Amino acid sequence: MKVGGRHFRTIWVKPDDEDVVQLIDQRFLPYRFVIEEVHSVEQMADAIREMHVRGAGLIGVSAAFGMYLAATAAVGRPANAGFDDRVDCAAEQLKATRPTAVNLSWAIERQLRSIADGKTPEEKLTLALRTAKMIADEDVEQCRMIGQHGLKLLEQIAQKKQGRAVNVLTHCNAGWLAFIDYGSATAPIYAAHDGGLPVHVWVSETRPRNQGSKLTAWELSEHGVAHTVIADSAAGHLMQHGEVDLVIVGTDRTTYTGDVANKIGTYLKALAARDNNVPFYVALPSSSIDWKMRDGRKEIPIEQRSAEEVKHIGGWLDGREVEVHLAPEASAAANLGFDITPRHLVTGLITERGICQANEKSIFSLFPEHAP
Ligand code: MRU
Repeated sequence: MKVGGRHFRTIWVKPDDEDVVQLIDQRFLPYRFVIEEVHSVEQMADAIREMHVRGAGLIGVSAAFGMYLAATAAVGRPANAGFDDRVDCAAEQLKATRPTAVNLSWAIERQLRSIADGKTPEEKLTLALRTAKMIADEDVEQCRMIGQHGLKLLEQIAQKKQGRAVNVLTHCNAGWLAFIDYGSATAPIYAAHDGGLPVHVWVSETRPRNQGSKLTAWELSEHGVAHTVIADSAAGHLMQHGEVDLVIVGTDRTTYTGDVANKIGTYLKALAARDNNVPFYVALPSSSIDWKMRDGRKEIPIEQRSAEEVKHIGGWLDGREVEVHLAPEASAAANLGFDITPRHLVTGLITERGICQANEKSIFSLFPEHAP
């Protein structure tokens, strides 16, 4: 998508130096647009853990590029000593960075299979680069297709609204910043906006890290999409008053039975949507489906992050980054990163292959190659 009128992906190989990966460092948005250069798998692991990059799709692609950087370093060693061990070790290091998004292990496993096809370290390195770029390109195409399928939902609603804007509510950032381009939840919104269909987005701020107010609001602004930032707790009220036509969120991991892990607070929005007959959709590429997990609430690991993220809040003041205290220092705080929205609260899943219901039968009918 565009930043200051110029097209950007979220991560790419440096054009004049293939040993370096460049990425948008999201910690500084929306106030500063910073591009970070990553030289090693250690730096990439840090970038994922410390959320310079975040969001399911982007975490997966970053890990794939991290594996490529590990391969680059391993090839540079005398007589390529222990190439496979070094790459395996990198895989473990990257897998340990964040627990909830399944795209992370999915991309790493895919890289390991691809690297194993090479006969020499040099060949393995070539394959690692090719696979990382391929995963990134596929992510772009899948998100584009999610946009096309989701657009039909917005068009149906628009027909009934006689020219008034379609109001979509989203939570967290499942925008292009969480992927490589287009985003998942935002892809139908961008498709609608670009096609001239009036659309307005309620952006839930998403405490404690504020991915909604800092990231989603920024990328919608850059693209010129009408939006309003709201406190997380305002969504139910808006739904009760007919101000929300449709909820679209992303997911970090969805079970093959349709249970959805997404940023903390999503479940409450799904409950409010059900109570008010507002359709609640989840947009996701198939790389976010966990084909092994059946019960989201029991099986999906929920990341617990630092209490400081809840007790403090960061922002910008007079051009500099500041962090201020909100809660008493003596108070304990809990910071659960994600929650599970059970399948019965989900109206449908918008995937790159079309829209299905959040249940095993419907998901496997779109992805028969994964059926048991
Ligand atoms: O903790 P984050 O920012 O990596 O959280 C991930 C998310 O952005 C959300 O949960 C999002 O809605 C799904 S990821 C496409």
